[in-house]
Amino acid sequence: MEGVLLDTYGRVATDLRVSLTDRCNLRCTYCMPEEGLQWLARPDLLTDDEIVRLVRIAVTGFGVTDVRFTGGEPLLRPGLVGIVERCAALTPRPRLSLTTNGIGLARTAEALRAAGLDRVNVSLDTLDAATFRTLTRRDRHADVLAGLAAAAAAGLAPVKVNAVLMRGLNDTEAPALLRWAVEHGYELRFIEQMPLDAQHGWQRSGMVTADEILASLRAHVRLTPEGAPARGSAPAERWLVDGGPARVGVIASVTRPFCRACDRTRLTADGQVRNCLFAREESDLRGPLRAGATDAEVAALWRAAMWGKKAGSGLDDPRFRQPDRPMSAIGG
Ligand code: GTP
Ligand code: 5AD
Ligand code: SF4
Repeated sequence: MEGVLLDTYGRVATDLRVSLTDRCNLRCTYCMPEEGLQWLARPDLLTDDEIVRLVRIAVTGFGVTDVRFTGGEPLLRPGLVGIVERCAALTPRPRLSLTTNGIGLARTAEALRAAGLDRVNVSLDTLDAATFRTLTRRDRHADVLAGLAAAAAAGLAPVKVNAVLMRGLNDTEAPALLRWAVEHGYELRFIEQMPLDAQHGWQRSGMVTADEILASLRAHVRLTPEGAPARGSAPAERWLVDGGPARVGVIASVTRPFCRACDRTRLTADGQVRNCLFAREESDLRGPLRAGATDAEVAALWRAAMWGKKAGSGLDDPRFRQPDRPMSAIGG
């Protein structure tokens, strides 16, 4: 079994994002409705063994160097620590990271670090507990702050904070969020809202753009483009704050897409390969896995799935249609 995850545009995927569950304990308005979604049935989820096997195939077979666990909310997955531990034992050892809403991280950060997790990205859109309640429909602001502090104390560095700005809700908070992140040593990134909400309510006019965010920051701090290493395949463009060393990032998936440099492949919690966040097709690996496919057969299916990757998200095409699955089921 050999080869890389190559597509027809010459991109090679070396970064794997694995969704461990589609469930979440928040209800962010830009993500899902109050009542939640129709969750995947337990037997449809990949088991811990199946996940570790697929990560092993990616790392040893395709040269994937970075593995990120996502959700829904990955801390809701009971076997998370064990999965991290087994992935950290692979040779070559991949870099392991987690994207989480931070709830429960205060309890688990030490164990995750001990299991081999390298770093975490935590979502936090506001410093105000009441705004947090409006935005996420849950009263868990203090839990997220405690989770962030625990992640930093456990050495899950750099701790990155992801913030989505919503017009009329938290869009004036960018400078305060940045001041707070710099003070705590977190690397803050602002994310343009993408049309991946379950409600299909996204509108371009409602999205706070990278340019707007940068302008509101520049009224308070001096931003200079970060020198080398260049942005490369990372989604965030980064700036030094007041000359550095603090940095701030903007993930401008809508107004400045980075698809040409994309190095990602994704696995959903039910074992489908997605070659792009915005792909409309998925390729099933769970069925073949459970029918007894060999590693080489699974690898061939995965390579074929990536070969079909489109040039870009298609967001600027007037015929753009959202993928059927929302962000929480794709893994962000
Ligand atoms: P780092 O390696 O720490 O920079 O991680 P990351 O920014 O890639 O991961 P994270 O899970 O924190 O995602 C931050 C935002 O980037 C989320 O809104 C993701 O949906 C978005 N994102 C991640 N990968 C892609 C991608 O391939 N395409 C697009 N358009 N957005 C992405
Ligand atoms: N657009 C942009 N970012 C989103 N996130 C969730 N939904 C959206 C969306 N529609 C963010 C979360 C988290 C990261 C994985 O993606 O806030 O930080
Ligand atoms: Fe949960 Fe993340 Fe969606 Fe918020 S954005 S509801 S934290 S999956």
